[in-house]
Amino acid sequence: MATTTETVTSATLNGITVSSDSTYIPRGPVKTKLNFFQDPADGSKPWNYVEKPTDGSPQRNFGENVVEVTMNDIRGHESEFHLDKDAFQVVQNIASEEKDFTDDEHIKKVYYPEVEKLLLENVPGAHKVTLFDHTVRRSNPGAPRAPVTRVHVDQTARSTEWRVNLHNPEEAEELLKGRYRIINVWRPLNGPVQASPLGFASAETTDDNDLVPVEHRYPHRTGETAAVRHNPAQKFYYWSGMKNDERLFLKCYDSKAGVGQRVPHTAFVDPRTPEGAPGRESIEVRALVYG
Ligand code: OGA
Ligand code: FE
Repeated sequence: MATTTETVTSATLNGITVSSDSTYIPRGPVKTKLNFFQDPADGSKPWNYVEKPTDGSPQRNFGENVVEVTMNDIRGHESEFHLDKDAFQVVQNIASEEKDFTDDEHIKKVYYPEVEKLLLENVPGAHKVTLFDHTVRRSNPGAPRAPVTRVHVDQTARSTEWRVNLHNPEEAEELLKGRYRIINVWRPLNGPVQASPLGFASAETTDDNDLVPVEHRYPHRTGETAAVRHNPAQKFYYWSGMKNDERLFLKCYDSKAGVGQRVPHTAFVDPRTPEGAPGRESIEVRALVYG
């Protein structure tokens, strides 16, 4: 039987080394450009349409401020980051019975209970979890949802309160008296991640003044998200080569004062991604966490 010997080469461009090995997993700190918020020129309140308008009108009324930042790798430092301090946290070695992630009803039946259990076990004080949404992202051109390359936070204080009323109408009044949070549980579907990793800025390093409420216009309802202005104090991270049995908790809101409240996040282009690496696929499940 013939054997082949492959030589792994690498090319260096602008100080970035790109491997010819398509299985290469980029790790360690890297510089990349992120899209931040640019205030609308006319001073109007920012808005965006969730679905691209079909009549050619613009999808949003605000611009982009593209800034180069360093993404720091938390791999090997996982235990240094906490929901109450950074507004993100990771969990490892999590098994799942859901394999395909192609059928929404199956995801709700099989994957949701696993996520609920994970949150109850890993978020101190949590006594009730309501999962209200999930998004599967794939990178192929026809995919309905792709990685998001814009720094944002999914909810604000206002939209979290709306969500409590929308998803727990009977108990909302009582639940709003206690602590309530929105936490996204993010994982890849085709890890280890080589392309479009998720970046996130520690809540400790982000200023409320840099978070800008954006009217989030769905076809039948309007929500509110937050766009993020760049600030050199922001410290960005990612988790290199994230695997399918790893979970990232992204806290979007916390009603408790004095803790890290929310984590700005975005997908980013890693210039070290080797040619031929698969596009990133992932799922995030959104949860109201009470207690
Ligand atoms: C999220 C999110 C973007 C992405 O999980 O809230 O914004 O590219 N994800 O996965
Ligand atoms: Fe998000």
